[in-house]
Amino acid sequence: MLRVLIAGSTGYLGKFVVREFKKRGYWVRALARNPKKLEQIGPFLEPAVRGQIDEIFVGEVAKPETLHGLCDGIDIVFSSIGITRQKDKLTYRDVDYQGNKNILDIALTKSVKKFIYVSVFNAHMFEYLEIVKAHEDFVRDLQDSGLEYAIIRPTGYFSDMSESLKMAKSGRVYMIGDGGNRINPIHGADLAAVCVDAVTGKEHEIPVGGPVIYSLKEIAELAFATFGKNPKITLIPPWLARLATRVIRPFNKQMSDLAEFFIAAGQGDGVAPAIGRHTLGSYYQELASRWLKEN
Ligand SMILES: NC(=O)c1ccc[n+]([C@@H]2O[C@H](COP(=O)([O-])OP(=O)(O)OC[C@H]3O[C@@H](n4cnc5c(N)ncnc54)[C@H](OP(=O)(O)O)[C@@H]3O)[C@@H](O)[C@H]2O)c1
Repeated sequence: MLRVLIAGSTGYLGKFVVREFKKRGYWVRALARNPKKLEQIGPFLEPAVRGQIDEIFVGEVAKPETLHGLCDGIDIVFSSIGITRQKDKLTYRDVDYQGNKNILDIALTKSVKKFIYVSVFNAHMFEYLEIVKAHEDFVRDLQDSGLEYAIIRPTGYFSDMSESLKMAKSGRVYMIGDGGNRINPIHGADLAAVCVDAVTGKEHEIPVGGPVIYSLKEIAELAFATFGKNPKITLIPPWLARLATRVIRPFNKQMSDLAEFFIAAGQGDGVAPAIGRHTLGSYYQELASRWLKEN
């Protein structure tokens, strides 16, 4: 039985990855700094996974002293560690780069056979942004490490598409640009299958998106249709959105960087090779009924 370490196990993608590795018969060690999260369904409908984990390793990737023994007995390392909505004053460099590097350094001293890492689609176009540069600096270290590896390059996750649903619920969607650019976002469960396939796959670079291509305007319309509302969309010129990120920058650099990334990524098509079966329409239905139950 192969033994896998899953770093990022409490996140949107990580929870689906835990479930998928277990389903395929792996022994699973999950790195978590807040293990309680493993027992709960997440805010974007990611599953509770405590029952699918053989061993929890409590650690904080930015503190290497908490990671002793992390890769002992491990064959495969998977990492979707990164900052998305976290507000713990750490930077992309601290976590997306150095945190993953700390895991890699440990893996290299043990008998790990392959490291599977999640970066972003079309990263070469956005490396001037700190969030993407941190991911890609780690990718280069991984490529140079001599360890067998695979880099997963997904488009947007369904979790991020929930922002449009939230805005539609409150009556108006604000959209940067003219809404004409296209994307094929992907559900965590579909992406998790790709991540686990990468253990035996030969590709080093795996660009991937979901089964349906939507324009950003179509996504907003889908969000309104979920609540049976007529679309009300306000278009924001990209220059104005960029100005807003500059204004918030002195107060919250991480948030400003993330917003810059979404603005830049939204100004072109983000269509990757399609995989999976989950559609955004059914995800929106599921998420909206959960919100309605909670209120
Ligand atoms: N969202 C997208 O559309 C998208 C698209 C392409 C690529 N990506 C990349 O995919 C990766 C995963 O995304 P996601 O949406 O699954 O993110 P997520 O839900 O925020 O999960 C990130 C994981 O990293 C962990 N983490 C963060 N800082 C940590 C630290 N200092 N020590 C230990 N663990 C830490 C989180 O733990 P906690 O739960 O304790 O915070 C969580 O388990 C990210 O690197 C992201 O940049 C995302």
